[in-house]
Amino acid sequence: MLGHLLHLAGIDSLIIEDRSEDYVIERVRAGVLEQGTVDLMIETGVGDRLRREGLPHDAIWINVQGERRRIDMAELTGRRITVYGQNEVVKDLIAARRQCGRPLLFEVQDVSVQDLDSKTPAVRFTKDSEAHEIRCDFIAGCDGFHGICRPSIPVHQIRIYERVYPFAWLGILANASPSSPELVYSLHERGFALFSMRSHAVTRLYLQCAPDEDLKQWPDERIWDELVTRLSSKDGWKPKVGPITQKGVTGMRSFVAEPMRYGRMFLAGDAAHIVPPTGAKGLNLAIADVWRLSRAVTDYYRSGCETALDRYSEDCLRRVWRAQRFSWWMTSMLHKSDIDNPFDWKRQLAELEYVMSSRAAMTSLAENYVGFPIE
Ligand code: DHB
Repeated sequence: MLGHLLHLAGIDSLIIEDRSEDYVIERVRAGVLEQGTVDLMIETGVGDRLRREGLPHDAIWINVQGERRRIDMAELTGRRITVYGQNEVVKDLIAARRQCGRPLLFEVQDVSVQDLDSKTPAVRFTKDSEAHEIRCDFIAGCDGFHGICRPSIPVHQIRIYERVYPFAWLGILANASPSSPELVYSLHERGFALFSMRSHAVTRLYLQCAPDEDLKQWPDERIWDELVTRLSSKDGWKPKVGPITQKGVTGMRSFVAEPMRYGRMFLAGDAAHIVPPTGAKGLNLAIADVWRLSRAVTDYYRSGCETALDRYSEDCLRRVWRAQRFSWWMTSMLHKSDIDNPFDWKRQLAELEYVMSSRAAMTSLAENYVGFPIE
């Protein structure tokens, strides 16, 4: 997205990726786009397929021990979310990149960044056994939590804020038509479960599990038993069962690195911050970061002014911490924690009852869930 926004401003960039194109296109990840993300894709000309194939959702459901309640976000906030896989977004952006002809290299190796505190930082990598060094004006570290950019910053120049959760999500993709047109977030005595989808024929579901969960212990039948138990509601709703086509375990972590900049290198997305998945903020935060970075870099080339670059980290972090608070809150409210005591469980149920019965509380959830405008 950053390469695309820079291209539209007439600024050249080189994008390098260590995985293969097939890997990034096929790896199923999150799938909820905030209204601001959808608007940005459409306004910048990469939203045609999103408009045709994305599934706009006005509401989500919250199901607590079988009592289900619809939270109508469109009615409460005038904004909605769109279900469209992150890998589909990546596919559309790769197509746009190919069309503009600017460079995009997959399967590069041995990537390192150099001279970050100079005016001409460099990226080194090998591609097809040939070594390259690219001198540039700026480096964008969009290489994820496990990437090399953040660890290339001297430790005393960066501060880390972190919380690791005592649970994870077991996620599946199934060939089963969605039995609800909207997402269902569920808390059951056996833990959290989430019903989502990717299309009219494919559902995406998640189950709270242990961080070190062994997938071998989870044959398809056990996964479906557990999902149906945790998601079914007293009004008779339950997910439709079908063949499982993908399975994986996602860890849960809240993480922020501050500042999101060192010299001429700017961190964006998961390289700088991780949210637990409840609330689906990760991709949307990354999009907001690169929108801001593209504006700051554009300002610099137009006027030589570095004010927006200097404010990049601080401006991004306001949105990041707002999303951190929301994701932590959704996660703690909707998961069963073994380390909490019975008081906490009762408090959690009281919190959910409040969210499901007070228009003020629902509006607060809804406005954070649909996301704030990108600005
Ligand atoms: C999905 C992922 C999320 O983290 C979430 O909160 C809702 C939906 C998804 O993958 O569809």
